[in-house]
Amino acid sequence: MKKIFALVLAAMMLALSLTGCGSSGTSLSDVQKAGKLVIATSPDFPPFEALDNNEVVGIEIDLLNLICADLGVTLDIQQMDFDSVLPGVQTGKYDVGVSGISVTPEREKNVLFTNPYCLAAQAIVVPEGSAITSKADLDGKTVAVQTGTTAESYCMSSGYTVNSYAANSDAQLALTTGKVDAWVIDDLTAADMVKVYNAEHDDQLVILSDAMTTEPYAFALAKGSEDLVDAINASLDKLIADGTVASLFEKYAAPYTAPEAK
Ligand code: ARG
Repeated sequence: MKKIFALVLAAMMLALSLTGCGSSGTSLSDVQKAGKLVIATSPDFPPFEALDNNEVVGIEIDLLNLICADLGVTLDIQQMDFDSVLPGVQTGKYDVGVSGISVTPEREKNVLFTNPYCLAAQAIVVPEGSAITSKADLDGKTVAVQTGTTAESYCMSSGYTVNSYAANSDAQLALTTGKVDAWVIDDLTAADMVKVYNAEHDDQLVILSDAMTTEPYAFALAKGSEDLVDAINASLDKLIADGTVASLFEKYAAPYTAPEAK
């Protein structure tokens, strides 16, 4: 009986490795055979990915289109909430996570990252006139964040009371309707969303100058996708070195901070 069980188990493991299920990742030739690169994105993160008349646009979408041109494939965009992006990549449902994803040691345990292409930080957003004027004032306060983000883990480990929302727009709404005292979100997205909000409302939001972290953005792939990571890195490094990445930030009126020299 034990023997049969062991045989069945071995056969199942062989089948898994042959069908590419489990954690075998996506290879460059898989992608080239399919003719497309399937990306997972949460398009609520301007200027990196946002919806414009139902179309996903932004710095990372432009960048991925250029990378796809180098790989000789087309871009297939799958939309979801941010907290589904990394799990979907990890299980091989999507080839690449493209979502303003910060590289962290925690995430590196579960996925592969490409080289970073920019640096970002977490920012604090409050209503104008708030008593909160710096990070130190957040102690004992309730903070809105997006679920599954580095803002969420940072605020939780800092001991703030954290209200998490699946969509960034709902985190912003929690602030503007007074449900929370502050909203913590990546700096460039904060700048973009606050600018739009302030143009449309009498009450105003303010971004505090106290940046809280430094976070490199990169694209995430399933473990086992090493040669696809290498191919994307070759394209990405070229686009950073020749100034294309900086010009994409300029196109979306965002300041560019290059990743640290490796
Ligand atoms: N950079 C942060 C992180 O990696 C936030 C990313 C949120 N992205 C999004 N498309 N909503 O956790």
